[in-house]
Amino acid sequence: MATNITFHPGTVSYEERCSLLSQTGATIWLTGLSASGKSTIATALEQHLLHQKKSAYRLDGDNVRFGLNKDLGFSPKDREENIRRIAEVSTLFASSSTLTITSFISPYAADRQVARTLHEAHNPPLPFIEVFIDASLDECEKRDPKGLYKKAKAGEIKEFTGISAPYEKPEKAEIHIDADKTSVEESVRIITEYLIQKGYLK
Ligand code: PPS
Repeated sequence: MATNITFHPGTVSYEERCSLLSQTGATIWLTGLSASGKSTIATALEQHLLHQKKSAYRLDGDNVRFGLNKDLGFSPKDREENIRRIAEVSTLFASSSTLTITSFISPYAADRQVARTLHEAHNPPLPFIEVFIDASLDECEKRDPKGLYKKAKAGEIKEFTGISAPYEKPEKAEIHIDADKTSVEESVRIITEYLIQKGYLK
């Protein structure tokens, strides 16, 4: 635990930064089962926003676990810490006026709430948009692009979300995408229309 530390504020406020850069910072928090399509939608959304000359950046579960969170596994405690760190990082990115797209299973409602609260506690509050990529377990098991469900069912992966670890569905996500029936392009359109409607994207 660090002691004797003092927060050093910058001289450019969040509002001024957004105005100077003509861009609102926000976190678009995708949550859903493994193979629900989070990473694919996040990648397509990032590409779409960048082609509109918007600063957008993706933080992805698998990728972040190669570096920043490589010390963490998949126990409830480790997932909590995983999401806590990502919540902190996404708050930093969003406060830099970046459209930050996170794609983590984030299976626990309490951990997602921690991320939301951190954004709300920022001065001024940063937009936090929870997007539930709602694919059925059946569909995810059928897709199984990395063969992880097969391994989990064979007992080769412990604490696998949906098989031997829980996924708590969001109850008040800002956006709910029925991923069994919605294409990636349509999902990107739904999210960008929400951003436009809320004034986060011009
Ligand atoms: S979490 O629950 O938010 O902390 O998980 P996350 O950081 O998003 O990492 C999910 C990716 O890790 C791989 N993987 C597992 N997922 C779930 N449960 C277990 N036990 C597990 N072991 C490895 C898997 O590739 C996940 O990626 P996605 O893109 O979700 O399929």
